[in-house]
Amino acid sequence: MKKIAVLTSGGDSPGMNACIRAVVRTSIYHKVSVVGIKRGYDGLIDGDFIALESKSVSNIMQRGGTMLKTARSKRFVTKEGMQEAYYNLKKHDVEGLIVIGGDGTFKGAEEFGAMFNFPVIGCPGTIDNDLIGTDYTIGYDTAINTVVEAVDKIRDTAESHDRLFIVEVMGRDAGLIALRSGIGVGAEAILIPETKRDVNTMMERLERGRKDKASKIIIVAEGEEAGGAFEIAEIIKKKFSQTYDIRVSILGHMQRGGSPSCMDRVLASRMGFAAVEALMAGRKAEMIGIINRDIAYTPFAQAVKHIEDLNPQLLRMVDILSL
Ligand code: F6P
Repeated sequence: MKKIAVLTSGGDSPGMNACIRAVVRTSIYHKVSVVGIKRGYDGLIDGDFIALESKSVSNIMQRGGTMLKTARSKRFVTKEGMQEAYYNLKKHDVEGLIVIGGDGTFKGAEEFGAMFNFPVIGCPGTIDNDLIGTDYTIGYDTAINTVVEAVDKIRDTAESHDRLFIVEVMGRDAGLIALRSGIGVGAEAILIPETKRDVNTMMERLERGRKDKASKIIIVAEGEEAGGAFEIAEIIKKKFSQTYDIRVSILGHMQRGGSPSCMDRVLASRMGFAAVEALMAGRKAEMIGIINRDIAYTPFAQAVKHIEDLNPQLLRMVDILSL
């Protein structure tokens, strides 16, 4: 393999830059030249390619976002889009592709790789941590630390005013950000789509809790079935508006930004490094993951969302610890 390409696709996540750096430097070490594709699959279709050298990735490790930019491409799902993408790769003599993104990225990669028998390897970059085949995805650790920092601040004001706060966090239809950050901030309750908890039952449990603990933090995953934070606030207000002064806080896209944590930088470096060596070893249509500290390879077809796979003991623990 003489030349490979790398792109980032889907929602950005902190650590993507560290992954790009690892891909570039590992390729150079193996005397493989590397091009970056701007704006994900859209840039692949438009032929938006840039040559990457060792110095192109200097000083990016600590930066959030992605130096290659990203997009959720609507054109890549079409046959014409994929054909144009393949044509551009051939035109630039690219023999292998590394895609950094989430499950939408891998679905596209799987289809594309099968259609043109083109080697593609994926690195999981998403704050949601909702993929099979890796213990953690690039960006998740930074995102939960961002949530913890924000909610600690909310706790200060909640405590001063004796208020109940409903804090909505990201995670599309997975509750992993909510669960882990909720434990980290000592939330009184966590609502996630995987468990389908009834809001009124949750409130009755809080009512039975300590009376000397005036502030309450409820962490809600954006994909929660009962609705987003505002809808849940309405349900609570119906029964408990006399008891609680309720406020809503939606953390939003700040969860996707910021300098990556050391965990994410190391994870991203290992995955980018392994992705290049996987391509060189003739592997394709697989996502690089790390399971129990070791590199793992999962076929794209299996690296889909795992939305039910949460440890119920953790939620039981939250109920006990927040009494
Ligand atoms: O997949 C990452 C994520 O941040 C989800 O948690 C969220 O639902 C989604 O992306 C938001 O996407 P966008 O930035 O395109 O609105």
